[in-house]
Amino acid sequence: MPLPARMRLAEPAGALRIEASFNVAALGPGASDPRVQAAIVRMRGGITRQTGLMVSSQPAAATAAATLRIFVAAPDHPAPQRLGDSEHYMLNVTAGQATLIADAPLGALRGLNTFLQLIELSNAGFTVPAVLIDDAPRFPWRGLSLDCSRHFIPLGAIRRTLDGMALVKLNVFHWHLSDDQGFRVESKRFPRLQQMGSDGLYYKQTEIRDLIEYAYSLGIRVVPEFDMPGHTTSWFAGYPELASAPGPYSIERKFGIFKPAMDPAKEDTYRFLGEFLEEMTDLFPDEYFHVGGDEVEPDQWKANTRIHAFMKEHGIDGEPLLQAYFSKRVQELVARHGKHMVGWDEALQPGIPKTILIQSWRGPQSLADAARQGYEGILSAGYYLDLMQPASQHYLVDPIQGETAALPGPEQKRILGGEAAMWEELATPENLDAKLWPRLAAIAERFWSPASAKDIASMYDRLAFTSRWLEFHGLRHRESLRLMRERLVAGGDLSAHDAHDSIEALDRFAEVLEPIKEYTRNEDGEKYTQSTPLNRLVDSISPESDTAREFRALVERYLEKRSNSAVTSEALTRLEAELSAWHANLQKVRPLFGRNALLSDCNSVADRLETILQAGLEAIQALRAGRRWDASETSARLARLDQAYAPQSELLIQIQPGVRRLMTAAGN
Ligand code: ACM
Repeated sequence: MPLPARMRLAEPAGALRIEASFNVAALGPGASDPRVQAAIVRMRGGITRQTGLMVSSQPAAATAAATLRIFVAAPDHPAPQRLGDSEHYMLNVTAGQATLIADAPLGALRGLNTFLQLIELSNAGFTVPAVLIDDAPRFPWRGLSLDCSRHFIPLGAIRRTLDGMALVKLNVFHWHLSDDQGFRVESKRFPRLQQMGSDGLYYKQTEIRDLIEYAYSLGIRVVPEFDMPGHTTSWFAGYPELASAPGPYSIERKFGIFKPAMDPAKEDTYRFLGEFLEEMTDLFPDEYFHVGGDEVEPDQWKANTRIHAFMKEHGIDGEPLLQAYFSKRVQELVARHGKHMVGWDEALQPGIPKTILIQSWRGPQSLADAARQGYEGILSAGYYLDLMQPASQHYLVDPIQGETAALPGPEQKRILGGEAAMWEELATPENLDAKLWPRLAAIAERFWSPASAKDIASMYDRLAFTSRWLEFHGLRHRESLRLMRERLVAGGDLSAHDAHDSIEALDRFAEVLEPIKEYTRNEDGEKYTQSTPLNRLVDSISPESDTAREFRALVERYLEKRSNSAVTSEALTRLEAELSAWHANLQKVRPLFGRNALLSDCNSVADRLETILQAGLEAIQALRAGRRWDASETSARLARLDQAYAPQSELLIQIQPGVRRLMTAAGN
């Protein structure tokens, strides 16, 4: 994962053994490039992580004898990596040797990660199957946008995220560095930005340079975003004169869309931004530079008579056109340093030069509009990981779909790919990995692999493997949640044995749950602030319950094969066993809820789960006995079942839809 563009297993099947003597020979004009050499070192470490084998750090004595030969046809051009740099590679594995051929170092990086992913444990020990792969990405822009403003994300977590991104062949880290709730970059020219806008939680310039270098070594571009003219309250804490209404301002602690906006009608604003962007375009070497532009509230502009006069004087008719004026001015400042401006949908305004790139969070329609008008674009709508949707939902969203698929070829070509987005209002460094992974790997496949890769069952099979694989490489998506749940049951008076049982009971209870979806957790914007602890059960479970999905699949398989009585009986027995086990577990888990403040609201979740489990067991009894409920009985039962599906403690009981299918079947 991601599926290669072209792949053929060798006939007859064979396999290359991976042993401690594994070694590499790198050849060709790009072989000694630092990125290739670093990738080889990293891969050796990766083999050790995956297998426990103490892999030799000696290069191969002779090319012909190397376990893996790498030919890199060209050296790197000077950094930074550029959009569209070749990532093509070919990997040929036989029982005797593996050969990786790449156009340039970047392709070698991608091919080495494919090689790592192919290592499996067989009865011959660790092996890589004999295979011929010819691979290149479908889209050149495959990113993750990470909000580090709402909650600060320490560099270690970002490095780990970059490691994971590289493993699934993502190539753009979009760093959302400023927003109402925090300004996260050290500015030497305007130090009050971080001094008054960050609570001391910001990245030093040296740290940023190191991170960019690290990302480069992994084949990942770093595109910074400084969102403006809205989403800027944290700037105004130190520089209130930038705002369109008098201050003072302080860092925004709540979440939502706020009124403060930069003053587009003052030359001082552009002088400030000119100096600021000069500093930041130097710090961030990528040729693209994101200036946001989303969700600007016009209230401050409307209330300011000086801004009115400015609009009148310049013939600017309405606030959207005032934003267009601002965007245009900022675009000129960005272009002065040789950069392409990136903006969200709202940046697409009449008169803005065609060199800007549009990132669509609103949907494919605006991306198609942009492409028709000559703008390049990337899609993020459909890839918002903070909405807590299943991997399958994101996987089926394609940058070329609907309106964009209807575009003629040359216009379609302007769609360069996409970015997943992770907004951090309700995520912290502690559970970041679990909000990203493994779902991000499914999105990475959408951006890399052929459009024909659409088989959900295959995706989930490979995602389960990839999820474990990522953990071998240091991602913490399962471990971090596990620890959070251990914290939920910990108690000084528990014996080791009781603690173990309690954790097991909570895990069993939690495995059927998911967090509620979209932005329902903080709908009124009042419930959560930046300092609300995110340490309850809803924060400690995966966005997607594998257990619930598998339960549902089992129900569907049963319903398909219902005419075969042998299958029917076995499948019902299995479904019954699962429901009974969850039911029995309720006795074990309930005592925990009374003991612990963080779990005290879970009793009503348990009540609802009990209702659902009982309903499922009754449906199975009816199905087994061949009894049919009449219509009114069925609808009364379904009504009770649906009531029990209502969110409680921000949790959804995700085996309910499977149980509902059983109940409907028992009713007709
Ligand atoms: C966005 O979601 N406002 C970019």
